[in-house]
Amino acid sequence: MAKSVRRQQVETAITYPLDWIEERSGLVGAVRYFLFRNVPRDTDWFHTLGSATLTAFIVQAVTGIILAMYYKPDPNSAYESIQNITNHVTMGWLVRGMHKWGASVFIILMFLHMGRVFLFGAYKYPRELNWILGVLLLVTGMFEGFTGYLLPWDQTAYWASVVGINLNGTAPFLGPWIASILRGGSEIGPDTLSRFYSLHMLVLPAAIAGLIGLHLYLVIRLGVSSPPWSKEAAGADRPEPEPSDVRAGLVQPRPRGGVAE
Ligand code: HEM
Repeated sequence: MAKSVRRQQVETAITYPLDWIEERSGLVGAVRYFLFRNVPRDTDWFHTLGSATLTAFIVQAVTGIILAMYYKPDPNSAYESIQNITNHVTMGWLVRGMHKWGASVFIILMFLHMGRVFLFGAYKYPRELNWILGVLLLVTGMFEGFTGYLLPWDQTAYWASVVGINLNGTAPFLGPWIASILRGGSEIGPDTLSRFYSLHMLVLPAAIAGLIGLHLYLVIRLGVSSPPWSKEAAGADRPEPEPSDVRAGLVQPRPRGGVAE
């Protein structure tokens, strides 16, 4: 049946800007590839833990940006600014609560996701590099939590940071140096607060976002692994893909089982 003129106009209005972007960037094709790529048919709820972790990170980023608009990283006003956010800023209690509890949710989800990857053996060839990126994400994620804990500048925050910094200070050889870098001097004070604030809202979120980008790039490039009980799991009896189908790198990977050609 012929399309009505009206419908053709609507379709052109929608596809024209998309075609314009696609022709100049290839981005539409990339998004289409991302959304419609094949995943194993027997993926299950355990495979959603990575996306859940990503969602938790995005919530932390959005609530953190809002908090940064009201927080004052100075020992004389940090505590009051937190009280102001909690008691006076519209919905401030909610945003602060989401950020505070969301931090634990983020860390817990990261561990659950890592546990899933470990128990499913999804860290094995060819996903070792993604595991290494994951470990870096775990370390930066926990450092993010540590630096955020000082910011309310109350007794709990102060003494928890004293303990954390002193613990690091007991590391062999590098300990005293690490402790001094974290403190920004010989005592915990205004410089420590500025330092933790800068790390917490600039350096670490940027590092985590970059690492997540690389992590997801590898997830898309390598594909999601099947559960270990799957008939399609690695090691199951099925033909090897031709090396040329897999990837074109400087070094061609050996087939599973490690038999050299
Ligand atoms: C900010 C933290 C993290 C985010 C946002 C994240 C996100 C994701 C997503 C969306 C996937 C694909 C879906 C899935 O398998 O769940 C994935 C897969 C993977 N992640 Fe993470 N991840 C994080 C931390 C970690 C950690 C801590 C590890 C391990 C140390 C890790 C190792 C892996 C591996 C090896 C895969 C591939 C799994 C497969 O192909 O089945 N990730 N990640």
